[in-house]
Amino acid sequence: MASSKRVLLGITGSIAAYRSLDIARLLRQEGHDIQMVATRSALRFFPRLNGEVFTGHPVYSDLFDAMGGGVRHIELADKSQIILIAPASADFIAKLALGLADDLLSTICLAATCPIVIAPAMEEKMYFHPAIQEHLKTLRARRVQEIPPEKGPLASGKEGVGRLPSPERILEAIQPSLNVSDAWSGIRVLVSAGPTYEPIDPVRFLGNRSSGKMGYALAREALSRGAAVTLVTGPTNIPPPVGARVFQIETAREMEENMHREFPSHDLCIMAAAVGDYRISSPTISKRKKDGKDWEILLCENPDILSGLSQKKKKGQFLVGFAAETEMEIPLLIGKATHKGVDILLANDVSRSGIGFSSDNNDLTLVTPSGEVLALGHDSKQVLAGRALDEIWNRWKPTAPNQVPKHE
Ligand code: C5P
Repeated sequence: MASSKRVLLGITGSIAAYRSLDIARLLRQEGHDIQMVATRSALRFFPRLNGEVFTGHPVYSDLFDAMGGGVRHIELADKSQIILIAPASADFIAKLALGLADDLLSTICLAATCPIVIAPAMEEKMYFHPAIQEHLKTLRARRVQEIPPEKGPLASGKEGVGRLPSPERILEAIQPSLNVSDAWSGIRVLVSAGPTYEPIDPVRFLGNRSSGKMGYALAREALSRGAAVTLVTGPTNIPPPVGARVFQIETAREMEENMHREFPSHDLCIMAAAVGDYRISSPTISKRKKDGKDWEILLCENPDILSGLSQKKKKGQFLVGFAAETEMEIPLLIGKATHKGVDILLANDVSRSGIGFSSDNNDLTLVTPSGEVLALGHDSKQVLAGRALDEIWNRWKPTAPNQVPKHE
């Protein structure tokens, strides 16, 4: 069970508001302290008294009623370790994106520094409206985490995307934030993950089999140690880790642009993405028609992002690369660590079944340019992410465990 956290559960005016009680119940069962704050319209769907009995705290709603002699919204913002808004209505999402503060819940969100997670629930047409999608994009860039709605029967009686996920699913999604320690507090970690897609034309691409699981596991592990995490990711099917700033890219050149922009403001960079080595020289703007002949497609080499970053590395920054090999030849790996300019290279054998690409398990070997070789073993990617971060920590700053080396 996670250590006890103070969770502020925000409830907004969606018909799913009554389901917040089940979320509160589950969080209480896990030992967390729940403070509910409901918007005025949420109270039309939500039984306030039941909420108070369930949580043992008043359910606050009005900015002015809640003052009670102190500055309640600041108090509530400061004492919360995570804010979960479930359900988040279209109106509330817009308010949050614009930074409006005309009620207690929106004001708390502006004053809070803890992670904010939203679980949108609304009719499908509203959810996919460009205005809401734009707001969600804005919020993602500000590290607000979305638990995407699910497909199912909606309040209108229609089937569609817009249902609030089950309390169990919501709990699973916020688990990393509930488990956070402060061992890596103040450390800024940049992780790349997933494959890159290189367009042939608007419908076809050249890609690779990377699932992104290893990179996402590293991002989650760094978050659970209290680090500020930025994830630059190629296309994957994995929900973005709660609390990370996430940039979604497709091509190697987009990944390069994002990594170079973010690298200077991070302390540790882990390049776990499977960057495509080649791209199509001249992708066509419209779909290439079948013509009964064989196609010749000219490929040109992509930039090596990792080598480019290592040339910009400042004192105190730490750079980790990955190597997906079909033959694990240690001297070659040491050579790769050296010529890529990394502090650590984590290598895995992708020819073995049950590990590597798209599997939940992996087998990692740590190699350094000075010739150190350490087997991290065969385990789940999440467990290996923990071991990898421990080893990174040991080599990066063995003498100053709570000090982030300054590089700016
Ligand atoms: O050369 P190789 O593909 O084996 O190197 C793997 C490492 O280099 C990984 O960390 C990967 O993210 C990175 N890489 C890169 N840019 C490329 C190819 C690989 O940064 N174009």
